Amino acid sequence: MIDIKAIRSQFPILDQKVNGHPLVYLDNAATSQKPLGVIDALRNYYLESNANVHRGIHTLSQIATEQMEAARKKVQRFIGARHDHEVIFTKGTTEGINLIAYALTPLISEGDEIIVSHLEHHSNIVPWQMLCERTGAVLRVIPMDGNGVLQLDFLEKILNEKTKIVSVNQVSNALGVINPIEEIIAMTRRLSSAWVVIDGAQSVPHFKIDVQSMDCDFFVFSGHKMYAPMGTGILYGKEAVLEKIHPFHGGGEMIHTCSFEKTTYAALPFRLEAGTPNVGGNIALGAAVDFIESVGHSFIQEHEEALLAKAQKQLSEIGGLKIYAEKAPRTGVVSFTIEGAGIASDAGMILDKMGIAVRTGHHCTQPIMDFFNIAGTVRASFAVYNTLEEIDVLTEGVRKAKRMLL
Ligand code: ALA
Repeated sequence: MIDIKAIRSQFPILDQKVNGHPLVYLDNAATSQKPLGVIDALRNYYLESNANVHRGIHTLSQIATEQMEAARKKVQRFIGARHDHEVIFTKGTTEGINLIAYALTPLISEGDEIIVSHLEHHSNIVPWQMLCERTGAVLRVIPMDGNGVLQLDFLEKILNEKTKIVSVNQVSNALGVINPIEEIIAMTRRLSSAWVVIDGAQSVPHFKIDVQSMDCDFFVFSGHKMYAPMGTGILYGKEAVLEKIHPFHGGGEMIHTCSFEKTTYAALPFRLEAGTPNVGGNIALGAAVDFIESVGHSFIQEHEEALLAKAQKQLSEIGGLKIYAEKAPRTGVVSFTIEGAGIASDAGMILDKMGIAVRTGHHCTQPIMDFFNIAGTVRASFAVYNTLEEIDVLTEGVRKAKRMLL
């Protein structure tokens, strides 16, 4: 049996008081805290092996290169990619999606269609709108029902030979809804030849990913929500698809030969990684993979399900709360409003005074908020180091906030 205390001891930041109360950190969908293994990996890189990668024949450069390439291999194994050169380091999910949208531009024509869902983060909407502006393509949206469940019968109707890209998240950041990506991918393959992009920012911290069995073309995620440093992320792409796409940035490291007349590009993954990468961050991302694997996906999933079930039950028992998507399959998030209690940030500020960190607002998902006709929600989001006792503190805090606001 894994001991949560032992897990928490790897996160010294959790052991502090905020506004006179023990910190209850429930803003993990915004960013998770970092374990000592990750902090040490970053620190040791700068203490012992800081050098630029792939450039020097000197020893430190070689060590830094080996460490970063070892992290790439760890990520490859972690997500089940066939090759390590299918794993591109980015600075996060947003950059990954923008890279794809930019790199696919020459392959998109006027009248082509790009499909996203109503449950997307702005970072999986705006880059596609920009692609539509550049090319004359049309953005289409898979609607959701009142439970936050995507309506796949609608997707079935709109998929056709003009569909070039289908881009959906695996888990909604605002509501925690787990989307049926297996069905979405199978339907897309059956009815079109579109590329499938999966935004895994909110799924990678919670469950095992296998990009080969998923059969997506691209899978993007951030490091900082899975215990790694900020400014790290991964774009996975199938080799054959990555080979086809245009480089995103031009610069050092991404060329094979460069002259004023003609430049030829390097092989994958370097062709898509112009400039000096976040070497220390990428090495520390490898340490975050080690952390997740040391705890194990089955424990993470089981424990986070228990946290969500308890939060769902206790918050419903308070009465007068609207919990969004409560009937949908969810992970890691409970998103709610206190009915008649004004804006969500009022409740968030009261919870903060009790040491409870949650996010309030539209969570970069204004279309979801518009659907429910609200400005925002209070979102409590979980990580493996949260305890069942913290759910009691959250419940008591929400009860008090409700009393103060009504
Ligand atoms: N996308 C992050 C969130 O949902 C920042 O909070």
